[in-house]
Amino acid sequence: MTGARGYIGSVMTRFLADEGYDVTGVDLDLYHRCRFPSGELEFSPWDAREATPEDFEGYDAVVHLAALSNDPLGDLDPSLTYRINHDATIHCARLAKAAGVKRFVFASSCSLYGAASGQELLDETAPMSPVTPYAETKVTGEKALSELADDDFSPTYLRNATVYGPSPALRLDIVVNDLCATAVATGEVLLRSDGQAWRPQVHVTDVARAVVAVLQADREVVHDEAFNIGRSDDNLKVLEIAELVADAVPGSRITFSGESGNDPRSYRVDFSKAASVLGFKPRWTVAEGIGELVAWFRDGGISTDDFTRYRRLAEIKRLMAEGRLSEDLRWV
Ligand SMILES: NC(=O)c1ccc[n+]([C@@H]2O[C@H](COP(=O)([O-])OP(=O)(O)OC[C@H]3O[C@@H](n4cnc5c(N)ncnc54)[C@H](O)[C@@H]3O)[C@@H](O)[C@H]2O)c1
Repeated sequence: MTGARGYIGSVMTRFLADEGYDVTGVDLDLYHRCRFPSGELEFSPWDAREATPEDFEGYDAVVHLAALSNDPLGDLDPSLTYRINHDATIHCARLAKAAGVKRFVFASSCSLYGAASGQELLDETAPMSPVTPYAETKVTGEKALSELADDDFSPTYLRNATVYGPSPALRLDIVVNDLCATAVATGEVLLRSDGQAWRPQVHVTDVARAVVAVLQADREVVHDEAFNIGRSDDNLKVLEIAELVADAVPGSRITFSGESGNDPRSYRVDFSKAASVLGFKPRWTVAEGIGELVAWFRDGGISTDDFTRYRRLAEIKRLMAEGRLSEDLRWV
């Protein structure tokens, strides 16, 4: 598993191990200092851009999570996002294929649907309309992986909804986690947009469960196939999520920062293919996950002092300012 010590990977490595998989995790360790509630990971960076053939020898499958993982990071330097999210993905896939790895599970994203009207539910055949460099790399990544698909190599594209839920590699730059942490720490459910964008959601352990469903499925079923991963009744507007958070944190109230008005990234997604083809159904609802997060943030003593540590862009800028990371994200 690449990106194994990130937000999703930290949960997924354990989940797969509990399912009986023998997992090797590698990661550039960009966020080794960003653990919640506390702690630091042992630092042993591995860079997907520098992957070697030996890295992939002897494995049945690669789960590729390594990426600059959100829209603001993509805006930091679009070409860097392209080099890591696209070029390094294809580099790893080529090496994996040459090493005889049969399956390659790519963490794609529903954000590739981008600016949709929100009127229709988008299935895997819907047009892609990415509005950020990050989302563009998911489109180009899927396409280039598809060109590598053959009888011996089966890439699968999991188009994950926006993820929420506890992970020791906490991220607060994703909407449910952000709203819950802010509400617990400040009593305000602070929206940065007008809240009208549609944004489907999925729990972090359900993303891990989806990977297991792919790994266990027959090859023909997942070969060169995309699956939207989420639950249809958790296609919510950001404002609806805020209302659920306000209900879960007594005394909190919704406020608007006015930073940005209308968010062009708005899409409602049809998740029925994963259910019918893979038999995959998420276990968590957003409402349940918000309850879990609120309790977890209270127990861990989340405070606004910590917030920047859990925002990917802020941590990278901090590491650059400290001279530890170069501008092309190599450890100095
Ligand atoms: N979190 C979400 O809401 C969400 C939704 C859809 C898709 N995804 C995708 O899932 C994957 C994991 O996301 P996440 O939320 O865990 O993000 P994350 O930022 O927490 O984790 C990504 C990990 O990749 C590592 N990484 C970055 N560049 C690397 C490189 N060159 N070589 C090796 N490792 C590198 C980072 O150190 C980090 O640990 C990403 O591909 C992301 O695009 C995430």
